[in-house]
Amino acid sequence: MNPSDIESLQDPANTAPVARCFALVPCAGSGSRAGTLKPKQYEHIGGQSMVMHTLAALQSVSRLQKIVVVVSPDDAHEWPDTAVQRMHCGGATRAESVFNGLSQLLTEGAKDPQGVQASDWILVHDAARCLITELEINRLIDACMDDEVGGLLALPLPDTLKAAVNGRVSQTLPRQDKWLAQTPQMFRAGALHAALLAKSAEQFEGITDEASAMEMAGFAPKLVVGSPHNFKVTYPPDFALAEDLLRSRT
Ligand code: C5P
Repeated sequence: MNPSDIESLQDPANTAPVARCFALVPCAGSGSRAGTLKPKQYEHIGGQSMVMHTLAALQSVSRLQKIVVVVSPDDAHEWPDTAVQRMHCGGATRAESVFNGLSQLLTEGAKDPQGVQASDWILVHDAARCLITELEINRLIDACMDDEVGGLLALPLPDTLKAAVNGRVSQTLPRQDKWLAQTPQMFRAGALHAALLAKSAEQFEGITDEASAMEMAGFAPKLVVGSPHNFKVTYPPDFALAEDLLRSRT
């Protein structure tokens, strides 16, 4: 980090560094498993598109400086007026969309001290996890803000875990140390960018979330207990479940 980056992170009294948080929402998937005509993040749930529910939850977190959404280059969705920045740089995979978005943010940040700097926190959150809450996002931020690496929301595996071969159980695996990864996942922008860059030549093979990129770079992300409600809307029945849960909150 150069000296001007450090200056920009100081508070007005110039005493303590201010740790800033930004959110990046990958929203460039086609959602092929959802069985919908349009990308699943644009399907309506309870009167508005799934991604708008997701963004509303993120916007309720006052510690997030800015929220950016990564959409595909040919995204033709009609967005309502929102304070959220959209970047048309989505890629072929989720990891590529996150990498492209983060690269653009850091490039912008190099010209503008208000923009994302390498030492800022980035919270990456799936557009398709529309049931995330302000409480859970704040829990992650509180748990990771002073951590050296950062971490992710996740759930200890509740069920017995089976390995399968040709649709039949081949093995029962120990579940004591197994967690289901969710988002948001919170890492320093520079460290996450470097971890993804290291896998870019291999088309991000094996990178299914930000934590996996950080792990491959030698870090051990912190696990922060999430909620079973924060599931990723993936299959056709998930839409009705998401709608019921959102309705029960109003
Ligand atoms: O497809 P899946 O549900 O795993 O995608 C998780 C999130 O990543 C979704 O919000 C989706 O829009 C996003 N994504 C993306 N670019 C891709 C694939 C997925 O931004 N190429």
